[in-house]
Amino acid sequence: MNEAKIDWDNLGFDYIKTDERYLSYWKDGQWDNGKLVTDNQVHISEGSTALHYGQTCFEGLKAYRCRDGSINLFRPDENAKRMQASCRRLLMPEIPVETFINACKQVVKANEHFVPPYGSGGTLYLRPYMIGIGDNIGVHAAPEYLFSIFCMPVGAYFKGGIVPTNFIVSTYDRAAGNGTGAAKVGGNYGGSLLPGKEAHDREFSDCIYLDPQTHTKIEEVGSANFFGITKENQFVTPISPSILPSITKYSLLYLAENRLGLEAIEGDVYLDQLNQFKEAGACGTAAVISPIAGIQAGADFHVFYSETEVGPVTQRLYEELTGIQFGDIESPAGWVMKV
Ligand SMILES: Cc1ncc(COP(=O)(O)O)c(C=O)c1O
Repeated sequence: MNEAKIDWDNLGFDYIKTDERYLSYWKDGQWDNGKLVTDNQVHISEGSTALHYGQTCFEGLKAYRCRDGSINLFRPDENAKRMQASCRRLLMPEIPVETFINACKQVVKANEHFVPPYGSGGTLYLRPYMIGIGDNIGVHAAPEYLFSIFCMPVGAYFKGGIVPTNFIVSTYDRAAGNGTGAAKVGGNYGGSLLPGKEAHDREFSDCIYLDPQTHTKIEEVGSANFFGITKENQFVTPISPSILPSITKYSLLYLAENRLGLEAIEGDVYLDQLNQFKEAGACGTAAVISPIAGIQAGADFHVFYSETEVGPVTQRLYEELTGIQFGDIESPAGWVMKV
């Protein structure tokens, strides 16, 4: 697509083919030097473990156009480290943090004209992924791997102000207690398609997953982490070995405590104790901060702050986080990297 044709103010979250992507292959125990290519098609063996056994993991992060025209990456080192953890879980070779960051920068620079203008609310979404490839048929780790990063411009999650939406507690589990929930691996998302569709069909934004062992505690909100603000002004977000360690969530824990003066807590969030929260939201790279209007749990519908308006603490967190990402507010040391 020619960037001249992009309507920056009306971007969604859809695939757009940009000019260049980074590709690197692992074979015989080592990564090659990696390079940028223009072809967006991947040619792999029919025996690739990624196709049959889900040996695939990925990341998601964004590049932000600042007021002065420069471009920020937000905590790419954390994405690199989380991808390494996913790789360890799936017996895949790790990509060094420096290689990961450098590849992100190369991809953003090569597609710089696709980074939406400051003020449009849009960003350049980067999708790093790794897949097991090579001729194989048995259930074991692949003989070869492909690591790639591609990117596309995406729109602001909320156009014209942040709006609360409703979620429904799923009867499906997203992850097993000692499974792969904490890793960003393809299988977790394949399994979430049906629960997500059922939630959308009932006009909920997404589903809420409970802890797989007791089904009494909130774990995830679709592809985002949960947070709540208690009446005592505590920022609370679930702790569990089966949720994805969200980089946005850890950033908000820090900002809540150090910038907003709240007490920040990672702890259990029991479904039967939602009354303690005056506000609630979902947080993640794609969701940024999405206020939760209400949660449907069986026959009960619990409303937090308001069904139509964002609460003041959620709004403050949103402004602080996005202000840092777009370079308008001073960032904590090391959070923002210039491309
Ligand atoms: C299941 C799940 N939880 C939480 C998140 C939020 O993580 P992050 O803030 O690192 O984007 C994501 C998105 O990456 C996700 O897919």
